[in-house]
Amino acid sequence: MKLLAIESTCDETAAAVITSDLVVLGSTVASQDALHQRFRGVVPEIAARAHLERILPVIDETLRKAGVTLAEIDAVAVANTPGLAGSLLVGVVAAKTLCLVLDRPLVAVNHLHAHIYACRVAAQREVFPCVGLIVSGGHTSLYRCASPVEFEHLGGTIDDAAGEAFDKVASMLGLPYPGGPAISQAALGGDRAKYRFPRSFIKETERLAFSFSGLKTAVRYEIAGPGRADVKDVELSPQRVADLAASFQEAVVDCLVAKALAACALTNLRVLCVGGGVGANLRLRERLSAACEAESIELHIAPPELCTDNAVMGAIAFERLRAGQTESLDMDIVAGVMRPT
Ligand code: KG4
Ligand code: ZN
Repeated sequence: MKLLAIESTCDETAAAVITSDLVVLGSTVASQDALHQRFRGVVPEIAARAHLERILPVIDETLRKAGVTLAEIDAVAVANTPGLAGSLLVGVVAAKTLCLVLDRPLVAVNHLHAHIYACRVAAQREVFPCVGLIVSGGHTSLYRCASPVEFEHLGGTIDDAAGEAFDKVASMLGLPYPGGPAISQAALGGDRAKYRFPRSFIKETERLAFSFSGLKTAVRYEIAGPGRADVKDVELSPQRVADLAASFQEAVVDCLVAKALAACALTNLRVLCVGGGVGANLRLRERLSAACEAESIELHIAPPELCTDNAVMGAIAFERLRAGQTESLDMDIVAGVMRPT
């Protein structure tokens, strides 16, 4: 059985053809980073227009890579939540149209659950039940994942997402968008212990919550100097940028590692799956590997290209198909940040 999966929740237009035994026949990701770079963040209207221009070429290219025709596709999956309204609509309308024309089932994909499922695709073996840590541009959340179709929210950020903090701090440091890769690169030459930034809730081991807003403000005051908040005209030496990046990154990583392990302890689950763009962060990967090894927790983090947005993770649709969870053509999008359920 072959699935065409479509992803357009934020600023990547992506498609993939995957078989039911999770072999990826073709995958394409068209990034919009260059379009949003000068705004240092995603501009929703620009994102929606770019998706519109790219969606059909991306699907065509994916089918060509996979060596299959549309007629050979057995089902179409699309991420319909969470995300930017205009972006989501482009993928969803494309998927519905294909389902209508081809008379194939439509499967809704929850983008966050799919980020966890990227670990299942990469592992090529069962990873459920597990604790899922989602660290993306819009979300930082912990889930109890009893099965690929049962996700229970355990806790998450009370303000900014980890990726958002990376993007905002990068902007303060004069680094390009997206901020995550830029900060992790700058941090390579920096001193992680140079600045002691706050680690919210880290001592509250029973509380699975994150907060990155205070950390962001602490970096701002460190850059601007006492009593000042404006970082615009502040000159930073390359070494200071590196030290600030490394110290900031270490604070985020400390919180993510502590809470992910706390979630494993609280749930008695010994498997941890990490998904979302921040999962591509080398320091986070290194620290999680060491911590999980010490605690005998089985760690799965997809390769970096499956951590950032992609359509391969839409293979979670096979699990929903098996559970009989298909949608009618009046399926809607649910935009915005996903609220705990
Ligand atoms: O999952 P994703 O591609 O899109 C969303 O669903 O939001 O995540 C994007 C986020 C951005 O905030 C980006 O800065 C961050 O992931 N990111 C990273 C790295 N690569 C991407 N953060 C830290 N280190 C990285 N290497
Ligand atoms: Zn994502």
